[in-house]
Amino acid sequence: MMKIKKAVLPVAGFGTRFLPATKAIPKEMLTIIDKPLIEYAVEEAISAGAEEIIFITSYTKPAIKNYFSRVPELEKQLKSTGKIELLEKIQPKIFENVKFTYINQKEQKGLGHAILLAEEAVGSDAFSVLLPDDLFISTPSCLEQIRDSYSQNLQPTIAVNRIDKNNIHKYGVVDLGGNQLNKTNTAVISNIIEKPHASVAPSDIAVAGRYIFNPTIFECIKKVEADNSGEIQITDAIKLLTKIENVQVKIFDGEKYDCGSKDGYLEATIAVAMKDPYYSNKIKKIITGKL
Ligand code: G1P
Repeated sequence: MMKIKKAVLPVAGFGTRFLPATKAIPKEMLTIIDKPLIEYAVEEAISAGAEEIIFITSYTKPAIKNYFSRVPELEKQLKSTGKIELLEKIQPKIFENVKFTYINQKEQKGLGHAILLAEEAVGSDAFSVLLPDDLFISTPSCLEQIRDSYSQNLQPTIAVNRIDKNNIHKYGVVDLGGNQLNKTNTAVISNIIEKPHASVAPSDIAVAGRYIFNPTIFECIKKVEADNSGEIQITDAIKLLTKIENVQVKIFDGEKYDCGSKDGYLEATIAVAMKDPYYSNKIKKIITGKL
């Protein structure tokens, strides 16, 4: 199985939708039950073969770096008190050979700008981009699914799903330009538009926060001009990329929760809890008032 060895996670945003919590806690560190949102994305990156996780972060969010660093005092205490399962939780085996790299994004100039900061760290291989706001529940993981499409032809691959008209303006939306989805639900796109009004959206197929790129994307990002809000959008760079390489999308199998919004975050918490027999029982009792 092909490995996508480097993963870029843009995590520099202020998370204003979650104020006041995000005044002191990065949005990505908010937990779904007991695990921070960001760890789900890191696990997903590793599932597709990541050996280096490149965080594009801000010096105002030291908690992320702290989280992925070891805490010898805590490890010692858990060992001496025999709490081995907690030891495994704070230092998961799958992290053992993974390098964590932190790049400071000084200005908030958009997703494209954040990804471009990873250029040197990425080097010459294909890499993934995971937006930790989007939480996926699926086996195989969403990134593994798009990795499998990528490995067929080495064409940049983006995870997508169908979105109803009322919500389409929140996403990058793709145009298949007459191309058909094949039997693995993959198709080459002819265009992509960032957050179009429903009346001009080219389809109901929207970008979910998982991408695999070749380093050619960096040259495209460099050519993109900032939009009206001063942001360099990755979507605009992908639009340029379609002129150079075939860019394909894959409709992933599984559930996706938009934890960038409070309702999505709440839904994700409930969805994850409902998959656990203990918590699902508890929730049912809370809802029916039978505690
Ligand atoms: C970003 C991208 C958008 C994509 C979305 C997926 O938007 O710009 O194209 O559809 O992630 O979550 P954001 O959610 O950061 O506004």
